[in-house]
Amino acid sequence: MGGIITDRDNKWYQIFNIRKLTLIFIFLLLLSINNSIAAEQSGTGDISCYHCHSRLVSDFQKSVHFDKNTCADCHGGDLNISGSLVSINVMHANFTGKPTAVNIADFCAKCHPGSSGVYEESIHWQKLKEDRPAASCTDCHGIHNILSSKDPNSSTFPQNIAETCAKCHENQTRMQALYYGIKTDRFDTYKKSYHYKSYKSGGGVIATCSDCHENHDTRIASDPKSAINPANLITTCGKKGCHEGAGNVFLSGGKIHEEQSVYLLSFDAKRIVTIFYIIMILFELTFTFGLIFLGITSKFDIKRRH
Ligand code: HEC
Ligand code: HEC
Ligand code: HEC
Ligand code: HEC
Ligand code: HEC
Ligand code: HEC
Repeated sequence: MGGIITDRDNKWYQIFNIRKLTLIFIFLLLLSINNSIAAEQSGTGDISCYHCHSRLVSDFQKSVHFDKNTCADCHGGDLNISGSLVSINVMHANFTGKPTAVNIADFCAKCHPGSSGVYEESIHWQKLKEDRPAASCTDCHGIHNILSSKDPNSSTFPQNIAETCAKCHENQTRMQALYYGIKTDRFDTYKKSYHYKSYKSGGGVIATCSDCHENHDTRIASDPKSAINPANLITTCGKKGCHEGAGNVFLSGGKIHEEQSVYLLSFDAKRIVTIFYIIMILFELTFTFGLIFLGITSKFDIKRRH
């Protein structure tokens, strides 16, 4: 008799033991927190992703895309599946996941066909397709924290652009190991230029990397369409607000990333001085060794003259 009651007691005890009650309590608590977050964020459409990707969502909330787009606009997925409870299912319907570096341009092209079209002719895009870690949209703009270039915190704000490019172009190991000696002094040489010094001494940004190399249409110098192809330099330097109408005379002033040259009547003074010194040294060496040679071989003995 007592046995039956005890069994029954045990069964109820098993179902409603303290641990389970605690779990149910936590479950209800989570549900209510969940609903309050939902209430707070209703309208933003990011609630389903927020549960598991909270850091990304807070990045995203500060970006230009936040007001106009949802996570699902870029990644797919269904924001409505989750209801009020955390659900992995939001990552199912049409979910495209994380794009590869090469796919990022297509990802953004949906809404920015102009920028993407131009970018897809650039050296960065070509090299990316050859599996080299060249710049994709997100390397220059950021991923979830993209800001307008008018925002001083943006990686593409004029004063920040040099550093954005330098992340890669000043990185010795990255560039030299992988790219057969592509020059890594671009930021250093730029820093020495008048363009940068003027900005550092309180002026505006006169010309930064992307003013000369284009934002998206970045090309290698030997490409006839490149802004830095010698044939196009007059147009590039002569842009509105830069050196309008400067023409050839101005452009003979030396290369941008080299030390500045000094020109005398269109002769490169630095080169003339260098050549002069080389000739001088060669002359002196020949003269000295000539004398020694004559001293050894000549029959003419200085002592005997006395
Ligand atoms: C229940 C939790 C949960 C929810 C809700 C959730 N995710 Fe995820 N998500 C994960 C986990 C776990 C991973 C895998 C983690 C990893 O690979 O770093 C992941 C990975 C991802 C990835 C990378 C996939 C890849 O290919 O590597 C993307 C993009 C992503 N989630 C987007 C979203 C979006 C957009 C939403 C909302 C529509 C969402 N997630 C909602 C848990 C969740
Ligand atoms: C403007 C398009 C865009 C929007 C909107 C966007 N993402 Fe992404 N997301 C990307 C791109 C591009 C990548 C891949 C970046 C990379 O790895 O270079 C990515 C990567 C991810 C990853 C995997 C990489 C990682 O850092 O773990 C997750 C997870 C993710 N996104 C979640 C989200 C969530 C959640 C939202 C909404 C809050 C969101 N994304 C909104 C473009 C977007
Ligand atoms: C679903 C459409 C959509 C996708 C996909 C998208 N964007 Fe946008 N993007 C927008 C909209 C809309 C704006 C305008 C926001 C505004 O004006 O406030 C914008 C603004 C921007 C801006 C700032 C523009 C400005 O003039 O201030 C940049 C930079 C940008 N997006 C880059 C990207 C990059 C990089 C990607 C790919 C990772 C991307 N976008 C993917 C819709 C999208
Ligand atoms: C994510 C890294 C990365 C970022 C950021 C980046 N680049 Fe590049 N860039 C590369 C790589 C890699 C190459 C290709 C090198 C090669 O293999 O020829 C390249 C090539 C170039 C070239 C052609 C030079 C050549 O010899 O191939 C120019 C010019 C250039 N980048 C300018 C810029 C400018 C200007 C910026 C900033 C607005 C920038 N890059 C940002 C990685 C980057
Ligand atoms: C090498 C670096 C670099 C890459 C790669 C790059 N951008 Fe840009 N992007 C810039 C710079 C620099 C600006 C302009 C800043 C300015 O106007 O002063 C810009 C401007 C923009 C703008 C105009 C809005 C604004 O903020 O002024 C959009 C939209 C944009 N880019 C989208 C993209 C997309 C989409 C991709 C990939 C297909 C991409 N960008 C690739 C550097 C880059
Ligand atoms: C005032 C214009 C100007 C500015 C600013 C400028 N460049 Fe250049 N860049 C040039 C010119 C012109 C060349 C080609 C001739 C030379 O090497 O001087 C060049 C060459 C290059 C090359 C080699 C290209 C090739 O095809 O071999 C790279 C890479 C490069 N610059 C990156 C940068 C980066 C990164 C910045 C910013 C930190 C920058 N440049 C700033 C004008 C500029």
